[in-house]
Amino acid sequence: MGKEIDLLALYPKAKRNVKERGATKTEEDRAIARQFGKEFFDGDRRHGYGGFSYHPRFWHPVIPTIKNHFGLNAKSSVLDVGCAKGFMLYDMKELIPGITVTGIDISAYAIQNAHEKVKHTLFVGNATNLPFPDDSFECVISINTLHNLEKNDLAIALKEVERVSQGKSFITVDAYRNEEEKQLMSDWNLTAKTIMHVDEWKAFFHDVGYTGDYYWFIP
Ligand SMILES: C[S@@+](CC[C@H](N)C(=O)[O-])C[C@H]1O[C@@H](n2cnc3c(N)ncnc32)[C@H](O)[C@@H]1O
Repeated sequence: MGKEIDLLALYPKAKRNVKERGATKTEEDRAIARQFGKEFFDGDRRHGYGGFSYHPRFWHPVIPTIKNHFGLNAKSSVLDVGCAKGFMLYDMKELIPGITVTGIDISAYAIQNAHEKVKHTLFVGNATNLPFPDDSFECVISINTLHNLEKNDLAIALKEVERVSQGKSFITVDAYRNEEEKQLMSDWNLTAKTIMHVDEWKAFFHDVGYTGDYYWFIP
């Protein structure tokens, strides 16, 4: 089993009123968000990010933590599953010059509107069927993406991460540690189909044979 470790500790915390956002959300909002189209990234706040644009303040503080944890350097290769517009990968290239980055995301909209400097390294595709040979990447990262799958598909996606990685990986998923967090999460959640207690997640990782590192997104 991998390590429970918060590699995103330096990611800027969003200032949001979780309860308020939960209260105004409908099943229709969720259905729109789950299309992961323009509305999710650059549409109304009810349907997702309410504008998803590049700013170095998000990933610049985080990349050194990931770099040090995995010992990444100019010779490394990294796959980001659920790369969206490629912003993390762009910053990784900036801060680790020479590194080879690849991204995959289900959203054609996100890839079409990706950061111009990394767009050519990003592909539209599903986490359940990564179009890469075994052991293709030194490191595979997937941030806040895999919980968007139903449990069966999630197991397949985790096995895909294992398959294409040479042994280093890190994922974050929606989780809770107590009833209060569970309630907040269910109010806040827009797209996730699998949300579990942290202990259930750990058991799940063990059962499906996911050996990488992991941490939680808890609103
Ligand atoms: C909450 S966003 C996170 C984006 C990015 N990783 C970040 O942290 O900024 C979730 C991403 O997962 C993508 N996604 C959802 N289901 C997916 C799937 N089955 N395969 C690949 N990507 C998926 C969405 O299009 C979206 O870009």
